[in-house]
Amino acid sequence: MIEASQLYKSFDGRPAVQGVSFQVPEGGRLMLLGTSGSGKTTTLRMLNRLIDPDAGHVRFQGKDTTSFRPEILRRQMGYVMQQYGLFPIIPSRKT
Ligand SMILES: Nc1ncnc2c1ncn2[C@@H]1O[C@H](COP(=O)(O)OP(=O)(O)O)[C@@H](O)[C@H]1O
Ligand SMILES: [Mg+2]
Repeated sequence: MIEASQLYKSFDGRPAVQGVSFQVPEGGRLMLLGTSGSGKTTTLRMLNRLIDPDAGHVRFQGKDTTSFRPEILRRQMGYVMQQYGLFPIIPSRKT
């Protein structure tokens, strides 16, 4: 079970995520739908502590995620990066 309660995060004084709460039961699925820049990635990154929220809490298996060491938490939670490369992919030139 993953529970997010009242998550807030802003960057440079501009809110990216405001008051997001949800519960995902074990084996359940949740889809975040929203326009580009609406805060989906920021929300996900707060679940495994790639980003710490300015306010609000995340609980994983009943425990606040701040009580886990981040690397231990992340080993128990899969995460697929949207941008996974160190360098942008450059299309091969036609010869
Ligand atoms: N590291 C960051 N520094 C500054 N602004 C950021 C950062 N990450 C995200 N933002 C801003 O937060 C907002 C939400 O972004 P994001 O969570 O990536 O949205 P989505 O994944 O829904 O496209 C956007 O306005 C984006 O520019
Ligand atoms: Mg995104």
